Amino acid sequence: MSRRKKVAAYRATILFCLREPHCVADLEYFEDGILVVEDGVVVEVGPAADVLARLSADVPINDYRGRLLLPGLIDCHVHYPQIDMIASYGEQLLEWLEKYAYPAERRFKDAAVAAETAEFFVQQLLANGTTTALIFATVHAQSVDAIFAAAEKRNLRLISGKTLMDHGCPLDLRDTAEGGVEESRRLIERWHGQSRLGYAITPRFAVTSSKEQLRAAGKLAGEFPEVHVHTHLAENEDEVKIISHRFPESRSYLDVYQQHGLLRERSVFAHCLHLDEADRGELSRRGGAIAFCPTSNLFLGSGLFDLAAAKAHNIRVGMGTDVGGGTTLNMLRTLAAGYKVLHLQQQALPPHEALYLATLGAARALYLDDRVGSFAPGNEADFIVVDDSATPLTARRSAAAGTIAERLFALLMLGDDRAVEATYAMGEPVYARVG
Ligand code: GUN
Ligand code: ZN
Repeated sequence: MSRRKKVAAYRATILFCLREPHCVADLEYFEDGILVVEDGVVVEVGPAADVLARLSADVPINDYRGRLLLPGLIDCHVHYPQIDMIASYGEQLLEWLEKYAYPAERRFKDAAVAAETAEFFVQQLLANGTTTALIFATVHAQSVDAIFAAAEKRNLRLISGKTLMDHGCPLDLRDTAEGGVEESRRLIERWHGQSRLGYAITPRFAVTSSKEQLRAAGKLAGEFPEVHVHTHLAENEDEVKIISHRFPESRSYLDVYQQHGLLRERSVFAHCLHLDEADRGELSRRGGAIAFCPTSNLFLGSGLFDLAAAKAHNIRVGMGTDVGGGTTLNMLRTLAAGYKVLHLQQQALPPHEALYLATLGAARALYLDDRVGSFAPGNEADFIVVDDSATPLTARRSAAAGTIAERLFALLMLGDDRAVEATYAMGEPVYARVG
């Protein structure tokens, strides 16, 4: 007997990208639209009048008229074990790692700490409308088990991996070149491709890996081309200096990763503030991606990301919050910071492009655009209901907006978690705002 399919429809103002938008008119926009989901997958999206005419009368319609329905937001770089030390005072990257990040991560030796924190973190992601993320865990394998377990419970598409670090960091947080890669291999076998989960081989950055470890990680990355590589690149000037002293044979910091087999499709590099044109060409040719993390770059005093240069090379770019270096898990607030970082450099971030960087563009950066990031039929139905009248000010501002571009821009500049009314993963509710 064939099982009956579960079908549901969602009525709202629907907005998403099907391709990289060059103007607002390139967005898919249905002022009164309907999204139809069958067994967790998008089957149709279009104007309500058209979809309703075809829709079977027994399909339930969730009425979100007045609100925006967007693809679930995607965070291309975040550290879940740093959620408890977000907003720690006063330091730039290398001192900040010693003073705040490593002590916080040390606690994840305890599986109970990892489990409790992973639960909280995933709830916070969903409360902020983020349905997919590429996540740093810690050096401890159980920290990876914890984040994957929390994601699997809610059927989320998340990617994570054990941090590899065997050099230049506290002794009790080190693994070894061989041991770290063996643990990574076990975690790949245990988790990669299970439910909606994906593994990322995660050398923290070249500062905290021996050459032997980088080589072993690169070898593993060659063995498992379908898993991601996730690391940091050229974030801070002192960090770049350390790298040029330690790796005099490499042309650049990116070249260190390249020479060790870590630059390939599905490699994601957070920050990339200090690249040259040769690096950008190489990143683009080899299919690597950049996570643009503006709140972190401002908070840690790291610098200003040059998006125009990355775009000129057609490099894949997605947004990252980089919590706890970043100051929010909220992608709207992250995009608002991104707008200002670019404005300071006489670069533009129009609203259609901002939406792209947090949805389809981020999905492309993660090589997941055939699954998430848009409402293309066949995609997994991860979406959020956004209420841009959630506060008296945003209600007033959105009411005054004459166009969808203006409404979207005001939402991006003013919005935060209060704007997220509901979050769905594969058509199932995973978060609903109280009130
Ligand atoms: N570089 C190496 N580790 C980290 C980290 O935890 N946060 C940030 N922002 N940069 C890093
Ligand atoms: Zn980071």
